[in-house]
Amino acid sequence: MLLPIPELLSKEQLAHFRARLDAADWADGRATAGHQSARAKDNAQLPEDSPVARELGALVLEALSRNSTFFSAALPKRIYPPLFNRYAGGQSFGYHVDNAIRYDRSGGRAEAVRTDLSATLFLSEPQDYDGGELVIEDTFGTQQVKLAAGDLVLYPGTSLHKVLPVTRGARLASFFWIQSMLREDAQRRLMFELDVSIRRLTQSVPEHPALVQLTGVYHNLLRRWAEP
Ligand code: NI
Repeated sequence: MLLPIPELLSKEQLAHFRARLDAADWADGRATAGHQSARAKDNAQLPEDSPVARELGALVLEALSRNSTFFSAALPKRIYPPLFNRYAGGQSFGYHVDNAIRYDRSGGRAEAVRTDLSATLFLSEPQDYDGGELVIEDTFGTQQVKLAAGDLVLYPGTSLHKVLPVTRGARLASFFWIQSMLREDAQRRLMFELDVSIRRLTQSVPEHPALVQLTGVYHNLLRRWAEP
């Protein structure tokens, strides 16, 4: 399932993010790439332990915790601390699949995060740069994603994906991974669709007794499938 989540960040937050990122010390993105993806990767990245990455990453996590669509679609168990990258001057990232396991060392010890979902949070307005589309290949075909600043896209970590060359301006983004309570994309999609249906019914027929039953089905499926 490929899911855009609009307006994760407000315009005020975006202005703060851009001011902090414009003044930050960027490093070569290849430093954190895996063996195979280092050859495909050409961008700049904030070091994971940089104070700016830590500060803005915490704000992204806070925004995620308030977003019910994100929770419903990802059913997150662990979230890798958000990272930040920048593409300009023709930089790109060729086709690759993200590493299956990432080690989150932010808490002092290495905690494994299985990358069930990948997320990109766009931080530059689309009209401010040319190129830079996130191209995702999966069972649903090839999709090109270039969203408004503040919007997030969620997609399965199993997908082949790339970032097209940025030929004008600069593309700033945050990216991170989520280990879900549901490992399989197909299960997450069913639960998301069920949850969306229940919410719509709650809006239009709030008193209908079948809603209680349907909500029970949601939770009983989650109980059956989840690895909390
Ligand atoms: Ni990637």
